[in-house]
Amino acid sequence: MAETEINVSSEVSTGYRAMLDVIGASEPGIARAIGDELANQRRQLKLIASENYASPAVLMAMGTWLSDKYAEGTVGHRFYAGCEVIDEVESIAAGHARALFGAEHAYVQPHSGIDANLVAYWSILAKRVERPFLDEAGAKNVDGLDRDAWAQLRAQFGSQRMMGMSLDAGGHLTHGFRANISGKMFDQASYGTDEQTGLLDYDAIAAQAREFRPLILVAGYSAYPRNPDFARLAEIAAEVGATFMVDMAHFAGLVAGGVLTGNLNPVPHADVVTSTTHKSLRGPRGGLVLCTPEYAPFVDRGCPLVLGGPLEHIIASKAVALAEARQPAFAQYAAQIVTNARALAEGLLRRGVTLVTGGTDNHLVLADVAASYGLTGRQAEAALLESGVVTNRNSVPRDPNGAWYTSGIRLGTPALTTLGMGPADLDEVADIMTTALAATTPQPGSKAKHQLDATVAEACRTRCADLLARHPLYPQIQL
Ligand SMILES: Cc1ncc(COP(=O)(O)O)c(C=O)c1O
Repeated sequence: MAETEINVSSEVSTGYRAMLDVIGASEPGIARAIGDELANQRRQLKLIASENYASPAVLMAMGTWLSDKYAEGTVGHRFYAGCEVIDEVESIAAGHARALFGAEHAYVQPHSGIDANLVAYWSILAKRVERPFLDEAGAKNVDGLDRDAWAQLRAQFGSQRMMGMSLDAGGHLTHGFRANISGKMFDQASYGTDEQTGLLDYDAIAAQAREFRPLILVAGYSAYPRNPDFARLAEIAAEVGATFMVDMAHFAGLVAGGVLTGNLNPVPHADVVTSTTHKSLRGPRGGLVLCTPEYAPFVDRGCPLVLGGPLEHIIASKAVALAEARQPAFAQYAAQIVTNARALAEGLLRRGVTLVTGGTDNHLVLADVAASYGLTGRQAEAALLESGVVTNRNSVPRDPNGAWYTSGIRLGTPALTTLGMGPADLDEVADIMTTALAATTPQPGSKAKHQLDATVAEACRTRCADLLARHPLYPQIQL
């Protein structure tokens, strides 16, 4: 290790120790919990596809007095005085986002992926429904409408259509499902995947879009192990007059790292792209929206339209993460995520596990544990946790066990790749997982409870600990 790295390492430890002392003086329970969570994460193999480990620089940028400032509005147009420095923070973050993704406009205020999607939906409604209505009525803004006209516009907001990927095919709740505000706002139709191949069927999506005529076509996924063709989906949207929106929350890191290019990169093809910043992008918990200049003025009204005051300490941290993602090392990281996911998929397939679509082209793998082991996703998730592996249960297409118990386990490699693991390590992970699942049986009559041989669980935990000892989490932090 280079001399400077040793210095940085000891400074990071000193910084965190001091921070915990200060926090502990106000609330010792929270100082303890922060330490306990690190210990927990150091004990478990993290295969949750939507999680990662942010760098100390990203984490530290969140713990500052930038949190103390109110800054509703956007750069140069604030509802509060004294935002000069905040403007600089947001400009740096947005500049990195534009450069990293090749986007014409970036809005970095959303607090999360759900919020980013809500900003996107309302910007599309504002541009496509509200603005033409106001122009027709000769009103400058909504306050210029009388009560009847306002009621008409509100009715129009509530009668728009959107099409998104079905939940069990890997879509997300925010793509028009009733448990989320998007499902309460829009009349939604879902497109699924082909029953035989498990893949998106673009001709079927085009036929459905011609019939349904959505205002918005949404693409993007939480649990689809392949890469959609965004150029083809953009063509479908254009043909039916829909705004094309892509939620790249899961795979933004693969776009940033240049793994997904051409038809597989949504940014040149979509009108509006949303993302989280904390999954494969490896930033703080948050969201962002990228868009074309036509949508920019509407997107920029996200706060106070649907967002609370911007979290400037988080936006500063997003800027740090986006700067890190512009470094050549991030491109290597992104490529390694995919290589590792393939190694994991191949390791599972070789050991007899059924995978949705038969493999992966991105950062995630969806294992059908009902077909492979006669377990529900819930039972497999619990057995794996007992064995030292953290995953989450997930529906498979047309899941007979429903969205709660499920038949699948979703696995992702962004976090283990951050730890520096390679294909051989992921093959070992596949072996640990299949060893644990083969020793697990459903408790008779229950979809939730399972039985797992205690000796096998113990042996699996030891193997996980060995892997983590070779690839430690935050080696520069000694508490
Ligand atoms: C595709 C997609 N969009 C949006 C979200 C929501 O992100 P957040 O939890 O930050 O609101 C997720 C989270 O899992 C997601 O997978």
